[in-house]
Amino acid sequence: MYAVAPAPANPLFGRGLLSIEELTPAELSWLVRLARYLKAAPSHEHRSLLRGRTLALLFEKPSLRTRVSFEVAMQQLGGQTLFAAGGEFLIGTRETPEDAAHVLSRYVDAIVIRTHAHEPLVQFARASSVPVINGLSAAAHPCQALADVLTIEERFGSLAGLTITYLGDARNNVAYSLAQASVMLGARVHFGAPNSHRPSEAMLAALNALGESSGGTARAFADPVRAARGADVLYTDVWTSMGEERYRERNDAMLRPYAVTDALLGYAQPHAIFMHCLPAHRGEEVSADVIDGAKSAVFDQAENRMHAQKALLVALLTDAKGMPQ
Ligand code: CP
Repeated sequence: MYAVAPAPANPLFGRGLLSIEELTPAELSWLVRLARYLKAAPSHEHRSLLRGRTLALLFEKPSLRTRVSFEVAMQQLGGQTLFAAGGEFLIGTRETPEDAAHVLSRYVDAIVIRTHAHEPLVQFARASSVPVINGLSAAAHPCQALADVLTIEERFGSLAGLTITYLGDARNNVAYSLAQASVMLGARVHFGAPNSHRPSEAMLAALNALGESSGGTARAFADPVRAARGADVLYTDVWTSMGEERYRERNDAMLRPYAVTDALLGYAQPHAIFMHCLPAHRGEEVSADVIDGAKSAVFDQAENRMHAQKALLVALLTDAKGMPQ
């Protein structure tokens, strides 16, 4: 007869995070709660949590926020990082994603990967025996979405019943992860995009299904004013993602009417905030007076990358004993 091990109190322990929909709404809410708790604590207070642990950061694309916020998060939790960029690590080129995952799993305790295509990341994660975190792929940017919902919750107390409007290329990784997290926490997501850049019906249906238990919904509008009217949050991102530069001219022409300007912000709620994952292009997807204005939350959002990722690391790598439940 074998003793049955008790279920771990922390359901995220030992898991990874490639996409927001891998979480339940309760797990997502808990991560945000944990992030708020860690943010409120002095930065030295949790230095023993990840002592002796190593996080590998393997980035095929440039990064400021994701790289530095993970590095500082690990330092503040007592662990260490190692970084490999570009040509040193290209997933699936020198060897299969599976072989690389098996090898790295023997060296480090967790791995963050920023890559182009999503599928090799999935292959890598399946073969890894340590948690793998998506630091941005073509399909998803879950770490950004964690920081986004943390920022919105700080400003409004809860996402339930809020209208969060995403303007621009509504098919990109940031838009999708933000929308997933928002509907799971009960928000109404409006996409404002031309038909060429609107989410597919399948994507909208998937978002509405994801939001069903918490009352979250998703709709797309071709008219930017209809998308922005009454919104609590206006969010945008660069019109052309990294690696998509060949579409820049077309995107600039198609997405110009969806730029977040003071005039468009005027259709949102008086208390509305502006969000952007950064880096931003002033005069393109957002005017300088909006991103540098009083309603802009972009630097709180960028700071929150670190707090959200501290929560994620604690959740994936520890039993989270002593943390708020
Ligand atoms: N928002 C974001 O992911 O920023 P970086 O590309 O600088 O990491």
